[in-house]
Amino acid sequence: MGIEIKDLRLAFGKFATGVTVVTTLDSLGAPVGFTASSFTSVSLDPAMLLICMSRLSRSYGAMTGSDGFAVNILSQNQQSLCENFSRQNHDRFKNTNWHKGPSGFPLLNDSAAWFECDRERVVTAGDHIILLGKVTGFDISQRSPLILSQGKFL
Ligand SMILES: Cc1cc2nc3c(=O)[nH]c(=O)nc-3n(C[C@H](O)[C@H](O)[C@H](O)COP(=O)(O)O)c2cc1C
Repeated sequence: MGIEIKDLRLAFGKFATGVTVVTTLDSLGAPVGFTASSFTSVSLDPAMLLICMSRLSRSYGAMTGSDGFAVNILSQNQQSLCENFSRQNHDRFKNTNWHKGPSGFPLLNDSAAWFECDRERVVTAGDHIILLGKVTGFDISQRSPLILSQGKFL
């Protein structure tokens, strides 16, 4: 049986997720980031997480070339950031309020939670990579997370 990618997307979309913006700095120190719903918690001790990233993403070089990255879990009033960080051909950080975290990676203001990570391992997996991070710092807020199900926000 052949797999239709369009149908596969719909099936994967039955699994409700949060939405994150994954960030790092490129070799010139400029902030880079993209929207990712593929976040998964992996281990508590040591603290580890993962995200999956398309090998075609223009953020690929910066994400795999950097020592680490940050994962920003979007809050319920940050729908516009989900769209902003998946839209191409514009400066994603220009109209975004952000600051550098303790390890220097870009943190978006007013997220539900954030993590800074050292890059632990990159595993090639089909047309994506699995980016495994060792958590070096994190913080949580009282804000509720943005939730995505079947391509719509709940
Ligand atoms: C809700 C949502 C979730 C997404 N999740 C992922 C993801 O987990 N991994 C990924 O590589 N792309 C994901 N994308 C797509 C990327 O955000 C988008 O393709 C990327 O930012 C394209 O720009 P770039 O090539 O400049 O990085 C998602 C997009 C949206 C809107």
